[in-house]
Amino acid sequence: MTRTTRPFKVIISGGGVAGLSLALMLEKVGLDYVLLEAYSEFVSNKSGTGIAMLPNGNRILDQLGCYESLLQLAGQAIESISFKDPSGEPLAYTEGWQKRASERYGYMGLWCDRGTLLQVMYGQIEDKSRILTDKKVDIIQQTDNEVEVTTADGSVYRGDIIVGADGVHSRVRQEIAHQASKMGLGEEYAREDVPSTYSCLFGISGKMEGLPDATLDYVLNKKFSYIIGTGPENRTYWSLMKNLDRTFHGSEIPRFSEKDKEEMIKEHWNDKVAPGVAVSDLYNNRLRHGPLFMAPMREYVHKRWHLGRMMIIGDAAHHMTVIIGQGGNQAIESAAALTNHLVSALSNSGKEILSYEEVQGVFEGFQQTRFDRVTSMVELSHQRQLMDSLDTPELEEIMLHKFPATLPGSLLQRWDQTFEAAVCLHDLPLPTRDKTFRWADEPKVSKDS
Ligand SMILES: Cc1cc2nc3c(=O)[nH]c(=O)nc-3n(C[C@H](O)[C@H](O)[C@H](O)COP(=O)(O)OP(=O)(O)OC[C@H]3O[C@@H](n4cnc5c(N)ncnc54)[C@H](O)[C@@H]3O)c2cc1C
Ligand SMILES: *[C@@H]1O[C@H](CO)[C@@H](O)[C@H](O)[C@H]1NC(C)=O
Repeated sequence: MTRTTRPFKVIISGGGVAGLSLALMLEKVGLDYVLLEAYSEFVSNKSGTGIAMLPNGNRILDQLGCYESLLQLAGQAIESISFKDPSGEPLAYTEGWQKRASERYGYMGLWCDRGTLLQVMYGQIEDKSRILTDKKVDIIQQTDNEVEVTTADGSVYRGDIIVGADGVHSRVRQEIAHQASKMGLGEEYAREDVPSTYSCLFGISGKMEGLPDATLDYVLNKKFSYIIGTGPENRTYWSLMKNLDRTFHGSEIPRFSEKDKEEMIKEHWNDKVAPGVAVSDLYNNRLRHGPLFMAPMREYVHKRWHLGRMMIIGDAAHHMTVIIGQGGNQAIESAAALTNHLVSALSNSGKEILSYEEVQGVFEGFQQTRFDRVTSMVELSHQRQLMDSLDTPELEEIMLHKFPATLPGSLLQRWDQTFEAAVCLHDLPLPTRDKTFRWADEPKVSKDS
């Protein structure tokens, strides 16, 4: 098949946090793409979850013109953060986080529905004709010059590369693993032993007396923990992370039936997440009275993210426990890093297309930029989940008796560690904001001194 003379074109599989942010970035830097989303309404809040957007993700959203509108829709940035004991009583309550975070990082942390984040990014995309829904990526074929993608409805799309931003059960990753095993590269690529030690049950409820607005609370318990957040429009986002008693791998990772979920809720029915607020109250006050959402939290960084003209980003490539709120923020960082590498390769090549070798260079460079960083996020996130679920007697002693007294300093220290090596877009301006923190990719000129 001969390649037409069109400019370089990216096919994005999946319109979640990674896919939509990548689409917006490609539009902003002037690269051609088409985004294929399996569902008919990608901005709907399918999984009914809230998402905390933190300074590292918000810095990129600011470059994309999304931060201010997201902040506005969030109503208020996170103002208080507390750690609570198993009876829901605060071990440490800290406030002033809007001022503290914006003075330090230039950005605050905020809560919103995952759907709101997608809506804001979608809203910023000028040419919406490139975002297609009801297009489930099915067959992926590579020729010498192109990648050809067929969706479940039989439509065919051609481009230079396909980026799998299609989540935990990524179709693109499946194809990468399949092709790799045919080429005898199975060892390097196939990862059948992905571990999962915690499950996560989550929901959105209405306002709870006893929980202040704009809060982020961690409730510590033995072998389980909660994250409770209060967001816009009196929403209470809550999730219960529970140790599965052992680490499961690959295909043995449990799936949860409706009965499992009901049992989990009943078992925790009387847990207190705040003085006067029990899990039963959260449950009874849910905004959507459908089935409960519960999933195993897989923890991985896949070893190889690309093969030929196929590449994966976001949850498809790396997945972590939810506790440090970095899954979505890292997905946006990955989209930014991939955009940086593409733009730089195209400008180096001086042409409108990239050779196969140049594509390999982009993918290698991208993975190198991101691998250590997401690996450390998965580790930090795992450690923090062990801390909150009082995994050992030592952690129990530290978390219940020592750690609270070290707030807010110790939390800021962890945030610094989490944000420092963050990526942002090289080819879009970074709005100037006063701050004291120096991001690792900044020249040494800000007001550190
Ligand atoms: C309870 C909970 C709380 C969380 N809290 C936070 C938080 O506070 N902060 C944070 O940063 N992250 C958080 N996360 C993690 C965050 O939601 C994910 O890391 C993020 O959504 C990953 O984005 P993604 O685009 O890679 O994948 P997804 O958001 O899963 O999107 C994948 C998309 O691909 C589509 N798709 C799948 N298969 C195909 C196909 N074959 N063809 C076409 N399209 C396809 C799907 O329909 C979907 O739209 C949380 C997650 C959960 C479950
Ligand atoms: C939020 O709750 C308060 C009362 O607690 C109420 O006055 C207000 O109207 C609610 N706002 C929304 C958007 O529901």
